[in-house]
Amino acid sequence: MVTLGERGAGRAPGAPRPATRRPANGRGGPTSVQLKFVMATSGAIMLLYLVVHMIGNLKIFLGRESLDAYAEWLRVVGEPALPEQTVLWAVRVVLLAAVLGHLVSAVVLTLRARRARPVKYSHRPPVTGGSYAARTMRWGGVIIALFIVYHVLDLTTGTLNPNGVSGAVYDNVVADFAPARWYVTLFYVLSVVAVGFHVKHGLWSGLQTFGRSSAATQARLKGVSTVVAVVLVAGFGSVPFAVLTGVVA
Ligand code: HEM
Repeated sequence: MVTLGERGAGRAPGAPRPATRRPANGRGGPTSVQLKFVMATSGAIMLLYLVVHMIGNLKIFLGRESLDAYAEWLRVVGEPALPEQTVLWAVRVVLLAAVLGHLVSAVVLTLRARRARPVKYSHRPPVTGGSYAARTMRWGGVIIALFIVYHVLDLTTGTLNPNGVSGAVYDNVVADFAPARWYVTLFYVLSVVAVGFHVKHGLWSGLQTFGRSSAATQARLKGVSTVVAVVLVAGFGSVPFAVLTGVVA
């Protein structure tokens, strides 16, 4: 593997790069291996956030006070050592960097993969290889990105929420998934399922880097990724489902 430090070291000006040290993209900039590392690291950060966020959301089943107190705690955690919202904003900055790093790396890797194809297909052959999740990674990523923009305008800023009262998280969520707004609930559920497929395949791809790639190890890693994805879809999905069915009101 080529590291940043060794790239181009000890080469006379103008001399061609040795073939084995050439960055994967062939024109400077990060190598594809480095971009995949960014994808894996940012993916791990976002997955950690998702798990914490899902557990936090489940507080809705403990009642209004419990969820709203948790949301308030997110704003004041770190006080009095740190000013209000410092930790919250630190998490937001890390998360935003992870989202952008993941997105930009995905776009660059996709464009490189397209360029690497010497002749464009006049008729794309039907995709037969790979799992459903693998084939939907890119479109899934686009849907998730659009969902995050809507979701922040809905439940963080309250702009698109029918209740939209700052700090009244329980009431905002209940208003969001009211039966009359079934289309919003459907959009949320589809997005959460897209997150599930994305995590299932993304986590599996990332985990394959570790351990020997025997068939048994592969099957175990695939199993772990599927379980994590199913738990996330069930955990996130349970909230709109509970509001829709009147369990949470
Ligand atoms: C049905 C599922 C979900 C519900 C009910 C839900 C609920 C919420 C609520 C209530 C907030 C505002 C919290 C507050 O202001 O204290 C929030 C923020 C957020 N959620 Fe979700 N969420 C769900 C799914 C997701 C998913 C799948 C993702 C990521 C793909 C996500 C990412 C975020 C982000 C990035 C924020 C903004 C955090 C911030 O800036 O403070 N959420 N969510």
